[in-house]
Amino acid sequence: MAAMARMFLRGLAALLAVALLAQFFIAGMASLTNAEWWAHHLTWVGFFQWLVVPLPVLAWLIGPPRPFRVTLACFPFVQMGLQYVLAHRGMDGRWPIGLGLHAVAIVAAALVLPVGICVTAADLSDFKSPLDGSPMTFKLQPGEVETPAVEKLKETGDNDYRGNAEAIAAGKALYEDNCIICHGADGKGKLGPTLVGDQLIYKQAKSDPGMFSIIYGGASGAMQSFANRGMKQDEMLKIVAYVRTLDK
Ligand code: HEC
Repeated sequence: MAAMARMFLRGLAALLAVALLAQFFIAGMASLTNAEWWAHHLTWVGFFQWLVVPLPVLAWLIGPPRPFRVTLACFPFVQMGLQYVLAHRGMDGRWPIGLGLHAVAIVAAALVLPVGICVTAADLSDFKSPLDGSPMTFKLQPGEVETPAVEKLKETGDNDYRGNAEAIAAGKALYEDNCIICHGADGKGKLGPTLVGDQLIYKQAKSDPGMFSIIYGGASGAMQSFANRGMKQDEMLKIVAYVRTLDK
């Protein structure tokens, strides 16, 4: 779903860029050669303005960080609004129509594609593969239900189990069963690297979504995916909360 929304949003941004350029051409024809082209201009604007409507929806579907993505995806609305105001002031004869309108349209045409790419590529959250940076997709184990804490992590990046003594105790037991042989009782590393301090291999391991993604999907070599070994996402989140207590 997220991958499809990402693809659609990029396609739509590209389409909008082309539509804006076509608008330039048509308006140019109208003012330079044949005033009848204004009718085409109105039809064209009336059609392509609707392309901006799905943008925020698609941005939301792509997933966290949603406030960032959706805000950015609303940029074309602001641009359309500004153009309407300028165009109508111009038609009323209150403002000269040319300069401001052209400036807005040029900026919009130049920015719509980069904005689309930013909306889709934004990686404020660290839900990504440590190896190639590709976005994570999480699948539940058979019979697993997504707990509120896991749901919240995916929405906001916050780990509710931090500072929760019961969850941390459960995380400790899981760590001892699954991680201690390679990462050591103090988390400073044995066969595997340290999980505490600043000497991390992957910058994303500093954040809870980032460490969660590494446990879920694995990294290179001996660091295998724990999702593939049947571990539940809620357990991974508790382990992260425990590992953070080692980091003093
Ligand atoms: C068989 C050994 C092994 C086990 C078991 C293991 N790891 Fe790892 N882990 C590694 C290795 C090796 C790496 C380095 C991977 C790399 O360089 O891509 C690693 C890397 C990591 C990293 C990234 C650290 C960094 O510096 O960026 C995290 C986080 C991590 N492991 C967490 C865990 C957790 C939590 C568990 C238990 C659920 C676990 N690992 C179990 C071997 C292991």
